[in-house]
Amino acid sequence: MFCSCFYTPNPFGNKRVGQTRQGGDERTVDQASNLRKMMQKENQRIQSQGGKRSLIHGGTGPRVFSVTSGKGGVGKTNIVANLALAFTNMGKKVLIFDSDLGLANIDIIFGIYPKYNIGHVISGEKELIDIIAETSSGIGIIPALSGQENLSELSEGQKLILLSEFETIENVFDVVLVDTAAGISNNVIYFNLAAEECIVVVTGEPTSITDAYGIIKVLFGHGAKHFKLLVNMVSDEDEAKSVYFTLNQAASRFLKGAVTEYLGFVPADKKIRESVLARTPLLEKFPDSPSGRAISRLAKKLLASPRRTDLDGNIKFFMQRLLNIM
Ligand SMILES: Nc1ncnc2c1ncn2[C@@H]1O[C@H](COP(=O)(O)OP(=O)(O)OP(=O)(O)O)[C@@H](O)[C@H]1O
Ligand SMILES: [Mg+2]
Repeated sequence: MFCSCFYTPNPFGNKRVGQTRQGGDERTVDQASNLRKMMQKENQRIQSQGGKRSLIHGGTGPRVFSVTSGKGGVGKTNIVANLALAFTNMGKKVLIFDSDLGLANIDIIFGIYPKYNIGHVISGEKELIDIIAETSSGIGIIPALSGQENLSELSEGQKLILLSEFETIENVFDVVLVDTAAGISNNVIYFNLAAEECIVVVTGEPTSITDAYGIIKVLFGHGAKHFKLLVNMVSDEDEAKSVYFTLNQAASRFLKGAVTEYLGFVPADKKIRESVLARTPLLEKFPDSPSGRAISRLAKKLLASPRRTDLDGNIKFFMQRLLNIM
């Protein structure tokens, strides 16, 4: 049985997602009515095939990309939100997993204010589908845990609940984007290691380059080998390439076996800030801006890139890897 969710009163007076109904200070909103319909359809399909689950995307499951940086404030959350929209424009069903404890910046970018998070699934109060917020463009968002909760302190029983809940959405999404926090906390390391591919966002500032190298080094120390470098807030491709070469040189010299691939760049563009202030993602508000076009190009490149063959891309396996590492 699925139930409706409540959004907290919106402190900024922005748009909300889903169907809203006035109700005193709070509005009742079904956080994921479309996703729910998709899940029901998928379950009917599975039942019609004798209860056998099969992945709808050629048996490989969704691609799971983590977006990380070491240094804070380099544009991770804006890139996640707009890559999600670019994938949606390409006809893909996208889930954003906000792993930035307690800060919920992705919600602000989309102008949504979900009340529940994955902690409510762990405590057994909610099913996963009840806590997934859905943006007006149909992107699913798993809101971050509040700062007091910790996925690494789960009992075996709670881990099993989470795994079986994630199994229920495994056929719904084509792409999962994990927005990580700044820094090199255990939480950041775990999410990056569990993802199929890790996108490292770096700017031209020396501190950002040093911190990007720092997170690559730590993840490499835990066995990660492939990194896609995305250079943000630069004036042009020449500047982006020189940032990439600096990082690539350090990695090939000191981290033998690490592969740092140039994914591309997003130019410094005031339209990004304007879209954040308007609480409407860049690709909705200014799709033809230089940064909007760059992110759309990056999304195409990402989806065209070959998949890793050594990992199962299924969401349940992503969660299993995450919980095993923790
Ligand atoms: N290409 C860009 N051009 C101009 N400003 C940008 C660009 N990308 C991001 N910004 C601005 O940089 C700031 C930080 O962006 P964002 O919150 O996405 O970074 P973050 O890496 O997720 O930060 P945190 O580490 O705190 O989570 C925002 O004010 C955003 O408007
Ligand atoms: Mg962020």
